[in-house]
This record gives sequence, C-alpha cells and structure tokens, in this order.
Amino acid sequence: MNPVRVGLLGLGTVGGGTANVLSRNQEEIARRAGRGIVISHAAARETSFPDVDTSGMEIGTDAFAVVDQPEVDIIVELIGGYEPARELVLRAIANGKHVVTANKALIAKHGNEIFAAAREKGVMVAFEAAVAGGIPIIKALREGLAANRIEWAAGIINGTGNFILTEMRDKGRDFADVLAEAQRLGYAEADPTFDVEGIDAAHKLTIIASIAFGIPLQFEKAYTEGIGHITREDVAFAEELGYRIKHLGVTRRTEKGVELRVHPTLIPGRRLIANVDGVMNAVLVKGDAVGPTLYYGAGAGREPTASAVVADLVDVTRTLTTDPGNRVPHLAFQPDALSDLPVLPMEEVETACYLRMQVADRPGVMADVTRILGDEGISIEALLQKEPVGGASDVSVIMLTHRVVEGRMNESIKRIEALDTVTGQVTRIRMETLDSN
Ligand code: HSE
Repeated sequence: MNPVRVGLLGLGTVGGGTANVLSRNQEEIARRAGRGIVISHAAARETSFPDVDTSGMEIGTDAFAVVDQPEVDIIVELIGGYEPARELVLRAIANGKHVVTANKALIAKHGNEIFAAAREKGVMVAFEAAVAGGIPIIKALREGLAANRIEWAAGIINGTGNFILTEMRDKGRDFADVLAEAQRLGYAEADPTFDVEGIDAAHKLTIIASIAFGIPLQFEKAYTEGIGHITREDVAFAEELGYRIKHLGVTRRTEKGVELRVHPTLIPGRRLIANVDGVMNAVLVKGDAVGPTLYYGAGAGREPTASAVVADLVDVTRTLTTDPGNRVPHLAFQPDALSDLPVLPMEEVETACYLRMQVADRPGVMADVTRILGDEGISIEALLQKEPVGGASDVSVIMLTHRVVEGRMNESIKRIEALDTVTGQVTRIRMETLDSN
C-alpha cells in the first residue's frame, strides 16, 4: 500500500523532531499504522535545517501551497499561534485533508469552529501534542477513562513555569535567568508571558475540561493568574508548613458549574504531583470509577512533543478508511451531546487559602486581622508569625484558612489591606488538597 503523505507546516523545534522521529522509527511506525507515513511537502521560514532528516521532502516557504497540495493526505500544523494557523487549518479541512496539530492556542480558542468544519467534511483533527507535550493525556481522558464520570483534573501543564519555580526553590536562581534558559532550550512559547502568566496553561486546561466534562471549549472564561508575584519567602514558608507551590491548572465539576482556573497553588508536599519538578508535566485526573490517576512526562521539547504528533499521525492513518460516524469524537462526547453546564465565575469558586502579609509589630494588630476574617465567616487553620528581621518594625504573618468562597476572600483582603497597620498587599495563594474526594 502507498504510504500516507504528510504536509508539514513548520520545521522548527517540534517540526524537526517530528521529521526525525518519523524517519528514525519508520519501520515500527509502519507496522503500527498499517502503512508507511512520509513527509512529502513542508513549509518553513528557515533555509537550512541542521540535525533534521529532510530526505524526500519538497520544502518551500508557502504554507498555503502545502495545504493546497493535492498529493498530501494529512496536514501537520506546527506553526503555533492563532493566525495564520486558523486559516491554514480551515483551508486544509476545506480541501478534505486531515489535520494534526500541536497548537493549544488554536484549539482552545477556535476549536469549536474547527471541529464543526471537520465534521462537515468528514475529516479528523487530532491534537494530542497540544496538551502536556509527550504525555498521552488526551488519549487517556477521551478513551482510557471513557467509563468514568470525571470529577476533577489538576495539572502542572506548563513546563517553563514549573522549571522556573523549581530552579527558584532549589537553587535560589533569578526568575529572568531561568526564563532565558527555558527559551534557549526551546521550552518557552514565542511570547514567554504566555508561560509565566498562565495563558499557555489555560489553553491546555480549556481542552482538558472540554474532554473531561463534554462541554464546548470556553477559553475566554478561564481564570488565569501568573507566577510573577511568588517570592522565595512564599516558597520557603510553604515548605515550612508542609506544602509546595505549583502553578496548577484546576478544573472541577460542581453542581453549579465547571471550575476552570490556573493559578499558583499550595499542594501538600507528600502528593506525588508536588514532586514533579523542572520542565516535567503531570496531570492528575479523578474519575468516579477508577479513582485518582496520574499522568507524568515531558511536557515540552523537541522529541517528546514529536512523540505525540507522530502518535496522532498513526491514529489518523489507522482510521482513514473508517466511517466518520464511528470515529472517536474530537471532544470525547458526541457533538450533539455536549453539556451546557456553565463555567463558574471565579468569585463563586471555593478554595482554602494561604495569606501572607506584612504587619506592624504592635499589640492588637493580629486581633484586627482575625476579626475581619471572622466577620466574613473565614476560619483560620494555621498561623505563623516570623520574628522581625534586623530590628524591623514589621513582621511577616502567614495564615492558612479553611475553604472559603473567592468573593468573600476578596472582600476580606480588601479590608485587611486598608488597615494602617498592614503594609503593602496581601499575597493570597489558593490551596488544593488533591485528595481522592
Ligand atoms: N511553552 C510550553 C511549556 C511548551 O513550557 O510547557 C509546551 O506546550
């Protein structure tokens, strides 16, 4: 049987990795897919490709020419970003080609439109590499856990952010220095604020939530908070209290709606996921039948991401002749069976919190703070006061609270910050126990 022909858009880090993995493992891949898979055409900005096996490829600069190439069966989109990726993918679909993409931004923001177009044309759009790099989390959620009612998922789904937090904790390195290294290693997004402000993680979490709960993709409703305000002191205080700070994406089904949030989070140090360090990613999923399951691996990088791209190519190749109605639905649930459960506004989400504040070292200050929390019905679980450093007149106070609705905590923080005995802003870091409930 003739090999399946692939048109590759982008021959950068992941594109080069995809070409090399396909070439190096071509025999095993053909044995799995039932026929060979070759990259016949590619579009790239670069003109030289050191360390990439480009044999047999016709390489040009025009991505639209590849998408319009009649010989190509599957388009692999590795350009990234919203545009022109959206236009290219929609044109590939209109041309009757299947699509494999690693583009989480594209799927999170335009996935509903893209999947509708793909359904109409009877083609597949596969996106395993869009979430957590090489970890087959889409496959696991969509197929492996299909028996379950998924209750929640929580993940470290941005390698760059996790790498930064880990290096800051272990080596006391500066934020900017670690970020520059992540960029050099090819982990960071083209715009690294997407990594550190949680936008990249929110793209991925949006996709996880849709597949977990069978809801349309709603990236614009995700709550996103970055790691820029986390200090080395917070990391050390958290450790002292038995916790680790991780930049977590959390999605949970509640009676009122779906939580969809990315923020720094204190998690108990004894959880396996608390020990996921460096550029590694992990996603913890709780299903009602299976209980908690944990998926761990490289969330970024050349060949780990290529591993997911090539797995999608094998999947698409295997199902080329399947009746479109019998394929696994893009968002795991049949398109006419998606739920309209709303995404909850952040003010309605309930979490426990870590609070750090600088207060004057005077009688009655703590009473003022605890009175405000008491007025708002917020119960304190632990309290830590540090002695003044070098004769300073104020001290750091750290509190862990019981679970509280976000709106109430916002109100309390506003009132605490208004006290003239409190200096600067209160740092609030949400907490998750990630136990099996
Ligand atoms: N910038 C992303 C990360 C790459 O650091 O995880 C993989 O999506």
